Amino acid sequence: MRKRRLVIGNWKMYLKAPRAAKEFARALRRHSAAFAGVDVALMPPFPLIPVVAEALRGSKLEVGAQTLSAYEDGAHTGEVSAEMLKALGASAVIVGHSERRAEGETNDDVREKLQRAARAGLKAVLCIGEKERDASGDYVGFLTEQLSSALAGFPKASAGKLLIAYEPLWAIGKTAADAMKPAELRETSILIRKVVADALGREALARVAVLYGGSVEPENAPALIAGGDVSGFLVGHSSADVEPFLSIVKACRL
Ligand code: 13P
Repeated sequence: MRKRRLVIGNWKMYLKAPRAAKEFARALRRHSAAFAGVDVALMPPFPLIPVVAEALRGSKLEVGAQTLSAYEDGAHTGEVSAEMLKALGASAVIVGHSERRAEGETNDDVREKLQRAARAGLKAVLCIGEKERDASGDYVGFLTEQLSSALAGFPKASAGKLLIAYEPLWAIGKTAADAMKPAELRETSILIRKVVADALGREALARVAVLYGGSVEPENAPALIAGGDVSGFLVGHSSADVEPFLSIVKACRL
């Protein structure tokens, strides 16, 4: 597994004002000397990327986007391309978040967007996750299909910029008590690595990070990072305020 840890704040549409985004990014930057061994990135809505990028400029903290277009240019109203994101200062992008899939994004769209991000040299945070878990274990087939479909044709040379965020839908937007437990996460992480190895090969697998997302809060972050066999977290609601986000980052320190 990769040595460094990663914590990514997916702001969704929680932080909306440029001033609040700037203050958040500055506060994070002030504390960044305490992030030993942890890479931290913020994923604001598109219009806030420039102010966050500006506030983080010259630091090791990164800014990314919450989605991107599968297209490069042309008649695609409302779309934002990988190159446009880079021009705004983004170095990473979330692909296939369940909230985008719920708006109609298909496995084919996700695969194209992932390759578009890789070709542009962006770090890509590929989200996968099952809707529910029951005793029959159907989620195993579902996750295998979702992940292998997204990775088909992915350039192995870009494996170092690929992050898989496992986000079970049933655990998103709840509380630490409802989140996945470390032992279950460990098993799922092994499954994810196997699928990545089958799709991209063992050598590439060593460069791919697996993250967990779904009600990561200051309360459950220490146990999940200690026992979940993941490199870090994709954090939703707990990334909307500086204090909880900071304590999650600190829980991941090496
Ligand atoms: P919550 O942390 O709010 O459950 O959201 C997780 C998520 O969807 C991050 O991408």
